[in-house]
Amino acid sequence: MGTMLSLQKVTKIYPGAGHIKAVDELSFDLEEGEICTVVGPSGCGKTTAMKMINRLIPITSGKIYIDGSDISRLNTIELRRRIGYVIQNIGLFPNMTIGENIAIIPKLLKWDKPKIDEKVLRLLELVSLDPDEFRDRDPKELSGGQQQRIGVARAMAGDPPIMLMDEPFGAIDPINRGNLQNEFLKVQEKVKKTIVFVTHDIDEAIKMGDKICLLKDGHLVQFASPEEMLTHPKNDFVADFVGGDRTLKRLNLFTIKRAMREDPPLIHRDETIETAHTLFSKTDSRYLICIDSDGILTGMIARDSIPDTASRVEDAAAPTQAWMTAQASLKDGLSEIFTHDYGFLIVVDDSKKVLGWLHTEDIKETLKG
Ligand SMILES: Nc1ncnc2c1ncn2[C@@H]1O[C@H](COP(=O)(O)OP(=O)(O)OP(=O)(O)O)[C@@H](O)[C@H]1O
Ligand SMILES: [Mg+2]
Repeated sequence: MGTMLSLQKVTKIYPGAGHIKAVDELSFDLEEGEICTVVGPSGCGKTTAMKMINRLIPITSGKIYIDGSDISRLNTIELRRRIGYVIQNIGLFPNMTIGENIAIIPKLLKWDKPKIDEKVLRLLELVSLDPDEFRDRDPKELSGGQQQRIGVARAMAGDPPIMLMDEPFGAIDPINRGNLQNEFLKVQEKVKKTIVFVTHDIDEAIKMGDKICLLKDGHLVQFASPEEMLTHPKNDFVADFVGGDRTLKRLNLFTIKRAMREDPPLIHRDETIETAHTLFSKTDSRYLICIDSDGILTGMIARDSIPDTASRVEDAAAPTQAWMTAQASLKDGLSEIFTHDYGFLIVVDDSKKVLGWLHTEDIKETLKG
């Protein structure tokens, strides 16, 4: 891994616009495979900064390097082959089908037809649109959100190492946006592109970014990881921008696995009630978590509601919904803890094998850092 994208004192002054610096000495470095989200109020210079990277807008002063090459020395065709671009407001060509839109760059690269067809198919699958249903349709027959997915697919078509994405999910409703963000992060785990991702939504910036670049009036105010920005906002502007609930927002950055305790009070469901009483005498917990021979969660048994007639754990256990997978966020975990009355949550893996348990105190400790 090395630096894939480097901006060094990049400045843009639009001619005739009162010589206001739309972007003012912007510097940051991105490692290969990192996503940098660029946020800030409308007009702060996000799109301008992005378009200078692929030279759609000429730089007034400063330098930009991709993978060590000064972009001013690359010809624009070579440059744009290495940089995929998803423009604000989608920009699909209305006179071309969806398939043709996605195939623009591969055609420019003179790939043969079977290779292009294969690529179009794979990319449509990647953005969760059925190739047979969508390939031959016109952009105007698609919803705004579907068009944006095509925009993302088109930008990925030439396999560029760098992607510039200008509010790629801006036109999508919150629920689908959340799903698309998750899908996109999954894809990114595989393809590991270096991505500059513009958004005006701070929650999206926090969720998608390895780094956040916060701009104001063309200036860089803070460049930091989401965790750093939420924990140590550089000034009042940043603190305001990330929001008064920044401590709660940090809950999204951690998985349950990170905070859970690995010593839950377990009991095999085939054990006797005597064993349960013995275990209860050794723990403060009001509950024992019941498992089968594979360690899979089967239920819970409560200290104060063991019927006199019960002889085995199974007779006294009740099924429980108070569990979550270790990959879920602490935010979802906390919410789930408050949904039940146990004061904790059972943490399981994908096969419902018990891994640990999570209390509100564990969450508090994790947030302390
Ligand atoms: N072609 C242009 N000529 C003159 N000024 C421009 C031009 N394009 C943008 N600007 C100005 O430069 C500043 C930055 O614009 P830019 O489009 O980069 O903002 P942005 O952060 O992307 O905003 P938004 O969130 O609204 O998309 C704004 O003040 C804008 O008015
Ligand atoms: Mg913009």
